[in-house]
Amino acid sequence: MRRVLVTGGAGFIGSNFVHHWCGSYPDDRVIVVDALTYAGNRNNLAAWEGKENFRFVKGDICDRSLLDDLLGGENIDTIVHFAAESHVDRSILTPGAFIQTNVVGTFTLLEAFRQHWLSRNQPDNYRFLHVSTDEVYGSLSADAPAFCETTPYAPNSPYSASKAGSDHLVRAYYHTYNLPTIITNCSNNYGPYQFPEKLIPLMCINILIGKSLPVYGDGCNIRDWLYVGDHCRALDVVLSKGLPGENYNIGGNNEVKNIDIVRTLCDLMDELAENLPVSPSQNLITFVTDRPGHDRRYAINSSKIQNQLGWSPSVTITEGLRQTVIWYLNHRQWWEPLLSEEYQAYYRQNYRVATLS
Ligand code: NAD
Ligand code: DAU
Repeated sequence: MRRVLVTGGAGFIGSNFVHHWCGSYPDDRVIVVDALTYAGNRNNLAAWEGKENFRFVKGDICDRSLLDDLLGGENIDTIVHFAAESHVDRSILTPGAFIQTNVVGTFTLLEAFRQHWLSRNQPDNYRFLHVSTDEVYGSLSADAPAFCETTPYAPNSPYSASKAGSDHLVRAYYHTYNLPTIITNCSNNYGPYQFPEKLIPLMCINILIGKSLPVYGDGCNIRDWLYVGDHCRALDVVLSKGLPGENYNIGGNNEVKNIDIVRTLCDLMDELAENLPVSPSQNLITFVTDRPGHDRRYAINSSKIQNQLGWSPSVTITEGLRQTVIWYLNHRQWWEPLLSEEYQAYYRQNYRVATLS
């Protein structure tokens, strides 16, 4: 039985992970610590609130005394660290928050966990799983081989630089203190509970409300898409079989151009939604000014986790996109409140438009 602290568990991947973990291991104790920033949503965890083995704590990973209380008081043996500022466009507008949470927050968490681990005489079964991104590796040209675990880091945005900084700290704590840390670097996730600012939910929601679909640059940037449930299964496998000091790449083997993702979402919405404000939805596609420093292509070589730990993705992009479109169609009450005044202000600033139009 594990006693797991999930940081950022009210966000997109964190809440999917809590659903996976609490559903798979009902005897484990799961504590979520989440600051509930704009991206955190306690409703994502409603299914587990009030359950004996689940506890939600609103708090900041930069708060050392809170972390000390939680680690000691709950006798935590496993940290799964999702908490982060995660959106590249916001990191371009407001980088400071990314340094604070992603770098200082991860450092604070490492220090707290190190003290806790030492106080318990360095148990072998303790784990600090740091959930990171493929963006730390930078940008690939069209014919370059996919990122593997030995690809040198070359982050290009304040977001990816802050994640790279946190990865280096996590690595250093293993090498310097033998702290049992593991790093995973995953490609683009999609699925239920993803905040509206990211490509796939943004396009789904804008189609449903009849707003333009802003495609950056020529739309030919490539991402390697992974269904979020497959990511959660990979993290589970890493926790049970992964080795401290190792890093594991996780990817979907699904390289798709952005414009093709957007066109597919339009077609799915045209097929599945009733009374769309604009039809066919592809009429809403608008090419807009490119993201500064926009990485051209990501692709993940996940043969290490496949061969050593026996994980592989199970959801095809065709099936995953269909399920995701159906989820956003059926969960208007989840996403409508997220289109808040704060979100509109961010949207206007990022897309340089007068309204969400
Ligand atoms: P998200 O933005 O949806 O969720 C982040 C969560 O962290 C939110 O609930 C937020 O309230 C919380 N948080 C932010 N700052 C905090 C702080 N100081 N203290 C406590 N909680 C705080 O992010 P996501 O997409 O679910 O990503 C989760 C993690 O996975 C991140 O570390 C991200 O870098 C990594 N990742 C994401 C993807 C992806 O495609 N989304 C891919 C690979 C890796
Ligand atoms: O690769 C993993 C990363 O994937 C994670 O580490 C990040 O947390 C996550 O946000 C994601 O980063 P991206 O920048 O790749 O995701 P995003 O959904 O913002 O954009 C995906 C692609 O779509 C990217 O090439 C930019 C483009 N895009 C995005 C938005 C929001 C558009 O063309 N228009 C848009 O409005």
